[in-house]
Amino acid sequence: MDARQGVVTQTRRHAFLASLVGIRHVVLAVNKMDLVGYDKKVFDTIVADFTRVAKSLALASITPIPVSALKGDNITERSARIPWHPGPTLMGCLETLPVATPSQNATVFPVQWVNRPNANFRGFSGTLASGRLTVGDALRVTASGQTATLAQIVTADGQLKAAEAGAALTLVLDKEVDISRGDVLTPADAPVEMTDQFEATLVWLHDEPGLVGRSYELKLASQWASASITRLKYRIDVNTQAHESCGQLALNDISVANLALSKPLACAPYEESVCLGGFILVDRFSHATVGAGMIRHSLRRARNVHRQALSITQVDRERLNGHRAKVIWFTGLSGSGKSTIANALEKELHSQGKRTYVLDGDNVRQGLNKDLGFTEADRVENIRRIAEVAKLMMDAGLIVITAFISPFKRDREMARELIGHVQFLEVYVSTPLEVCEQRDVKGLYKQARAGKIPNLTGVNSPYEVPDAAEFEANAGSESVEEIVRRLAELVASEKAVL
Ligand code: ADX
Repeated sequence: MDARQGVVTQTRRHAFLASLVGIRHVVLAVNKMDLVGYDKKVFDTIVADFTRVAKSLALASITPIPVSALKGDNITERSARIPWHPGPTLMGCLETLPVATPSQNATVFPVQWVNRPNANFRGFSGTLASGRLTVGDALRVTASGQTATLAQIVTADGQLKAAEAGAALTLVLDKEVDISRGDVLTPADAPVEMTDQFEATLVWLHDEPGLVGRSYELKLASQWASASITRLKYRIDVNTQAHESCGQLALNDISVANLALSKPLACAPYEESVCLGGFILVDRFSHATVGAGMIRHSLRRARNVHRQALSITQVDRERLNGHRAKVIWFTGLSGSGKSTIANALEKELHSQGKRTYVLDGDNVRQGLNKDLGFTEADRVENIRRIAEVAKLMMDAGLIVITAFISPFKRDREMARELIGHVQFLEVYVSTPLEVCEQRDVKGLYKQARAGKIPNLTGVNSPYEVPDAAEFEANAGSESVEEIVRRLAELVASEKAVL
């Protein structure tokens, strides 16, 4: 800490984070003592302030040391300028700290790489995250439940009989078991839980806000899944530790939230396993780490809600209809012609005897989504619901045509992933803003330019152009009939093997 500033919000945040990640012993190094005249009173006040902050945190010890990094006071040698501090020095303290012995934590080995240099060797490489491994141990692959015996522990320095947490190892098993990167090995009699929903403490690390319903990539140990925040329970005010309600996450926010994953992962509460309880959230496009989290507990609903297998499937319904089901996802500015083209396309497909349905922004927003506006968070939720509804309708055997601005790439990608790449057809209606604005069918652009509508896409809210839409149409330069003819051809050209 800076002796001139004392306890500031950032100090509270860092102390809180340190406590969250399980740090129990803290050195309170009060720096720049030279700038406050080596005044004991300043130091004592800071220590008292910090002790008060720490009261609500799970810290076991605080060692306060007054230092001046610039002048070298109390760094390696006791300072004559600070006679009132009985010790220790900063380095003296760090060098004599008792180092915790590896605890009796459960044994967890996340597989980082399958090492297969030739047909005679197959090993599973990674770092033993916690616990201990001994040749002869019975091991279990968490996801598949298969078991095998540990035959060899290979390291860069030769073979070992046993290994401790932290060691980089290649494990050889006694028999062929299907294991790949991301699998987690544990003792056969101490399996870990698989879950796809949990409550976690989230720390937001990015300028772009964290939104409920948006899809992120989640990395936990060596496992990956798609994940979204399903509910923001509360944000923690680091100054008062009060719980506040919040609609989205801003940079540095610490919150408690529910998350849902696209598939179950081997997890554990952070308190039990740092390795299986800690995760990061990564943006799908920029690959920036946007958040970090610690699992509090798995949600019971992840265990108690099971998919019901139904006898009649999408394929059965498609056979009856005589065509494949799919989702044709229109995206583009307001007034670009999405609804007009979608409507004309439906007429064409209908006349060909195909079963169709159009989901249109303005219509759905009067019913299912009437609680949603046009903030970024509301648009994400709008698209999430539409993607889920479109998926159900596709499962019902229909060719679903959706006409929503859907301005954000990430959310269209979420829809594509949910619906399935093969059955998803993204149609970018690329009519330029000038043309949309000139037409201004609903008079929205005029109002937005007059400052009467906030968040109008293209004017004061962004539109992210698709990189790889399956189809592009500019209704400013091509007739609706021509676009529909090309689109219907594309739909018909997808060979339907029923
Ligand atoms: S989306 O961005 O969430 O995909 P959606 O397609 O459902 O939007 O709704 C867009 C329609 O809502 C527009 O065609 C327009 O008629 C109407 N609308 C009203 N206010 C706005 C606004 N601020 N931004 C965009 N569209 C708006």
